[in-house]
Formats: sequence, structure tokens, C-alpha cells
Amino acid sequence: MINIAIDGPSGSGKSTIARFLAQKLNILYLDTGAMYRACALKALKLGITEYTDESVSSFINDIDLKIEYVDGVQKTILDGEDVSSKIRENAVSMMASNISALKPVRLKMVDMQREVAKGLDCIMDGRDIGTHVLPNASHKFYITASSKVRAERRYKELIERGQNVDFDTLLAEIEQRDYNDSNREFAPLRQADDAIYLDTSDMSIEEVLNFVLERIKG
Ligand code: DC
Repeated sequence: MINIAIDGPSGSGKSTIARFLAQKLNILYLDTGAMYRACALKALKLGITEYTDESVSSFINDIDLKIEYVDGVQKTILDGEDVSSKIRENAVSMMASNISALKPVRLKMVDMQREVAKGLDCIMDGRDIGTHVLPNASHKFYITASSKVRAERRYKELIERGQNVDFDTLLAEIEQRDYNDSNREFAPLRQADDAIYLDTSDMSIEEVLNFVLERIKG
């Protein structure tokens, strides 16, 4: 059974690596960040702007959230609507980071993540995969890069998608999200003791992919 856990802060390149590996190894890829983003979108739809255990408990257990695959590509379906693009909007990122700190949200999402991957070879990326969601994963990686490099990557990605963003604001947001995700009480972003650490600041995607593949083939 192959279970690969990839954790790290936003913009570290982990989703690019996960997507590539899933294709190469022909296994399922679950982008868990998309699920927290969908929770934030749901709260927004309900007009919930203050996130507390009570406010999220009013909807989280009945959330109509489905993960589907079309030609191997993950689609995030909320209330029957494909929100795969909407959840990528920059404004959703900080909301997702904030809502993901709450225990009721994490309990529900982790249940769903384990259910999607049950009995399947899979690769998941997120913040707590190696430490919490798949503690017995066969391979674990912790992938990071300096905040400046991560902000540059994210800036490029958003500009290419036609979103209007300011670099310094983006950098400040990334650092704020790092802080939120690493300092929350429940299942914070942390390298698992048995994860392989990789700083990709000065690496090309090809170099990162080769590094990871070699460790997996090991
Ligand atoms: O990976 P991402 O940027 O799409 O994730 C959005 C937010 O969701 C991120 O700031 C923290 C949260 N998240 C989490 O807490 N645990 C995960 N496994 C994945 C994402």
C-alpha cells in the first residue's frame, strides 16, 4: 500500500509535486487544502464572518461537500456546484486558514479525507497529513521554501489567472497564514518526526520531483 503524505506551508510547491507523483504512480491525489477552502466558502454563503466553534458547528456536520475526479483532476463540489476555481481566489486563502483552526471543522474534514482515501493508494497534501491524517503513511515529506520565494510563486500564479494582487500584500498574507497554521492549537502545521525535509527555495520543479521520486523508489 502506498500512502504519501506531503506537508508544508502555502506556496512551497507541494501541490505541483503531489499532482505529478499521483500521475506518475497512477494513484489518487487529494488536495486537502481545497476542502478547508470550501468550508470557508460555505461560511461566506451563510453570512458567517466570525468563526467560532459554535458558528461553524451550525453547518459543518451537514456540509454538502464532495470531492470528485474528472480525468484524474480533483473537482471540489459544494452544494452541488463546482467551486474548484472559486476556492482559489486570493480572498478565500486567509478565510480558509482561519476556519481551519477550529476543531469541529478539522474533525469533520479529517474524517472525510480518510474516507476518500480508505483502502486506496493515495497521495495527500496539506498541513497535518503526516502528523495527523495519515500517521502511518509509507512516505512522508515536509516541503518548504522561504516566504519570499513562496510569495513570488503565488504572485505569478495569481497574475496568470488574471487576479489583481499586490506583491507586498501577498507576502504579508503568506507570513500571516504561516503563523496561523503553525500556531493553532489543534493539529498545527508541523514536520512529522519521520518526514523527509526539503527546502525548495533554490530548486527547480524538476530537481524537486527527482529528489522526491528517488526517495519513494528508494
Ligand atoms: O494548502 P492551501 O493553501 O490550499 O490551504 C488553505 C488553508 O487550509 C491553509 O491556510 C491551512 C488550511 N489547511 C489545513 O489546515 N490543513 C490541511 N491539511 C490543509 C490546509
